[in-house]
Amino acid sequence: MVVTIVASLPSFLLASSVSHASSTSSLFFTRLRASAGLRLSFAVAPLCSRRAKFMAHSIASANLGLTQPANAEHPKIAFAAKEVDAGEWKGDMLAVGVTEKDMTKDENSKFENSILKKLDGLLGGLLAEASSEEDFTGKSGQSTVLRLPGLGSKRVGLIGLGQPASSPAAFRGLGESVAAAAKTAQANSVAVVLASSEGLSNESKLGIASAIASGTVLGVHEDNRYKSESESKKPQLKSVDILGLGTGPELEKKLKYAEDVSSAVVFGRELVNSPANVLTPAALAAEASKIASSYSDVISANILTAEQCKELKMGSYLGVAAASDNPPYFIHLCYKPPSGPIKAKLALVGKGLTFDSGGYNIKTGPGCSIDVMKIDMGGSAAVLGAAKALGQIKPTGVEVHFIVASCENMISGTGMRPGDILTASNGKTIEVNNTDAEGRLTLADALVYACNQGVDKIVDLATLTGACIVALGPSIAGVFTPSDELAKEVFEASEISGEKFWRMPLEESYWESMKSGVADMVNTGGRQGGAITAALFLKRFVDEKVQWMHIDLAGPVWNEKKRVATGFGVSTLVEWVLKNSS
Ligand code: BES
Ligand code: MN
Ligand code: ZN
Repeated sequence: MVVTIVASLPSFLLASSVSHASSTSSLFFTRLRASAGLRLSFAVAPLCSRRAKFMAHSIASANLGLTQPANAEHPKIAFAAKEVDAGEWKGDMLAVGVTEKDMTKDENSKFENSILKKLDGLLGGLLAEASSEEDFTGKSGQSTVLRLPGLGSKRVGLIGLGQPASSPAAFRGLGESVAAAAKTAQANSVAVVLASSEGLSNESKLGIASAIASGTVLGVHEDNRYKSESESKKPQLKSVDILGLGTGPELEKKLKYAEDVSSAVVFGRELVNSPANVLTPAALAAEASKIASSYSDVISANILTAEQCKELKMGSYLGVAAASDNPPYFIHLCYKPPSGPIKAKLALVGKGLTFDSGGYNIKTGPGCSIDVMKIDMGGSAAVLGAAKALGQIKPTGVEVHFIVASCENMISGTGMRPGDILTASNGKTIEVNNTDAEGRLTLADALVYACNQGVDKIVDLATLTGACIVALGPSIAGVFTPSDELAKEVFEASEISGEKFWRMPLEESYWESMKSGVADMVNTGGRQGGAITAALFLKRFVDEKVQWMHIDLAGPVWNEKKRVATGFGVSTLVEWVLKNSS
């Protein structure tokens, strides 16, 4: 049942930090259907109009399927950098990161590496014995945990790093293995040490420590919010001491930074994991305004209703939203530094389809993945995750706009038909030859809006095409940009984050397939080069003066093996914004 009411703004839109484009206080007509925010309720408050025919029922109580996520428990892991001798460290598990080279033994089958030699000595040779019996050679992905007496620590774990001179990704992997080993051992306290850390520069020690910390946080994280008590395990790990990589304020700061980014990645994962009956566009908007109120010193929110989007002539976006009983919300957060001049203005635009059924071109047949189409807001999760991290980090010299045209792609009598012509906010007309190519329709108006904010650079992220997954497989995102400069910046950021990207061509000759007989363009080309024609479509909605990049993360947003979200994009975006800060 759809209840038509006249109501004042839902309370989540009235958070103190929220500013409104227009008519904050005036009443507006809205169609509200039972939909719950994540952990929040926004009762529709005083129905002061005589036209109100119904009591507004509590929106939060009538959630479809009665599902409410449990409050996410993220007991903070305390990270500390210490200079304690590995043999003397006291706790549940000492994890040693070893390369293949560290595992070499002399003619007496003794370790040559000094740390391993020392530990082995304290253990009466058991470490050398056990590692060769278990065929542990230090290859990346290998790990072995021994429960042994003789040390301050209850257990010793050897964790393979592969070849020496490992990348940030290898140390993040070390953190993940530490998390996994700690889970199995139900360890509360863990120390991590590298078998070889001599000769490392201060700079690389900082990078290694923070990669270990983020790997550990992300490895420990399990999303149990939708599991009943009996099905979910509580994480045990409370403290991680990082040994031998230095101490002091610089390192502490770096560890704090790693925690800020990792908790934003966790937030991004949780948004994507949330099912579409819980994470509606309204709930996503509520999460965004919660970020603004948590970091109100630097972030403000402007959430536009369908009515306001109509005033802005966003016909392309509203065309997609039209079939859903869950109303669309256009999310705009703005980060401004606490002080100092602004040197760069950036926009991060995310696709925010809380569900994509395909519309009248409904997703059917094997491999269509309709059952996981809650992930179609993965771009917006990366953008809002980055906002959350930046709210904590508070970089100077940079202004960042976070923009999401959120809605659902559903089917109904009010929905757009194949063949309909939509008019976007820049006046361009689009013949919808496939309702399932909806993401680009929402992004079109979001990109026009972003350009109107006067930004220098835009990065958009979207689970845009299955074609990109066909091209690059499940763990690499496609990058499309006419700007070599912007490409360089983002690829440098990805070196630090460890996320995988591959640049794809914006082949203009393929635009041929996007021509319409009656409108400015169609929204779908042929099957061939589907990720490229999608990117070419977006390009039509970006000001030529603005540097722009499109990232298709349809593959890496989701871990098919574990059937959970990855939080992809958050850490690269944060690194990129910091590159533009001063
Ligand atoms: N959301 C999908 C793309 C997608 C597919 C994301 C699989 C994640 C996993 C997008 O809206 C879509 O349906 N794209 C179509 C475009 C086609 C109709 C031109 C596709 O890829 O099939
Ligand atoms: Mn689609
Ligand atoms: Zn989609």
